[in-house]
Amino acid sequence: EKDGYPSFMEKEIHDQPSAVGDTLLGRLDENGSLTLDEIKIDESVLRSIDKIVVIACGTAAYAGQVARYAIEHWCRIPTEVELAHEFRYRDPIVNEKTLVVAVSQSGETMDTLMAVRHAQEQGAKVVAICNTNGSTIPREADAVLYTHAGPEIAVASTKAFLAQITAAYLLGLYLAQLRGNKYKDEIATLLAELEAMPAKIQRVLDEVEPQVKALASSMEDAGSVLFLGRHVGFPVAMEGALKLKEIAYIHAEGFAAGELKHGPIALIDQGQPVIVIVPSPRGRDSLHAKVVSNIQEIRARGAETIVIAEEGDEAVREFANHVFYVPQSPTLLQPLLATVPLQIFACELAGAKGYDVDQPRNLAKSVTVE
Ligand code: F6R
Repeated sequence: EKDGYPSFMEKEIHDQPSAVGDTLLGRLDENGSLTLDEIKIDESVLRSIDKIVVIACGTAAYAGQVARYAIEHWCRIPTEVELAHEFRYRDPIVNEKTLVVAVSQSGETMDTLMAVRHAQEQGAKVVAICNTNGSTIPREADAVLYTHAGPEIAVASTKAFLAQITAAYLLGLYLAQLRGNKYKDEIATLLAELEAMPAKIQRVLDEVEPQVKALASSMEDAGSVLFLGRHVGFPVAMEGALKLKEIAYIHAEGFAAGELKHGPIALIDQGQPVIVIVPSPRGRDSLHAKVVSNIQEIRARGAETIVIAEEGDEAVREFANHVFYVPQSPTLLQPLLATVPLQIFACELAGAKGYDVDQPRNLAKSVTVE
């Protein structure tokens, strides 16, 4: 069942090209448009929504954060992301004009289910992004966009995360297509870029995995690892930190790179490993230069800098102790590539420490209590 891999987690990391490919399957047509028959919510309702709230927990909430950048940019609909267990208790402003997107691999997470019910009581429509057919959240939601990652056995989520992000992109592009706006012309291009992602993820596995494994197995003694990212790299950083906590039991934290000087840089001293996710230098804004200068700042204070950057980005080399290059992609899609080395890193490091990566202590695959 593990297809020859030492753990389900490692197998599932390798399932990711098909998890993403299968989630796209049947949803794109040849002339570059998107059909989501599953979204059985009246189109007039979808045209009239004025806010999106994504609710989820853990890794699924990080997928939601990636979704926010994409949906706000493509659809110009204000989008919030909230941890499901916080959502219900803050008296959220939710009504018939709110679309709630509930993201859950298992479809059984009690906190998320309760938040779904709360939103529906306020009149909101709920779309579930879910990996488990017929589970509770999709049954109660008004519509479901299934991720087709296949069953995820390892407790730490990997392929479901990439599939959730993929489904969220589809939802965002679908809403952009439906509502018509200035990004309409880009939809076909983005869909083609999405279709190219499975092969690019495969390249990360083929080319980058051995390098990441070599580094991870030399870091058994790391006491803490920090992760920095900006824009969509920020949730990727938090996901990388979560994976390391969960399975390698190493203290890890993800920060927004811009926040560094507001406090966390005080943590940097000699030999502190910091993993930095660098945005594309081809992006239209100055984010790349800003993150490179962050790397320079922490390196100057003794950090061991481990950099995930886009192929062709030579500017990062000077300040990086280690660089892992992922294929080029539009900035908003980069999480599908940049996350993979972080998953491999956590899996390999946990393995090197002799831990059971599939069954980490204290954790259950699906959290069905509040
Ligand atoms: C992390 C992880 C958890 C889940 C969270 C939500 O690796 O697996 O953080 O993402 O418990 O679970 P689902 O997606 O089933 O609602």
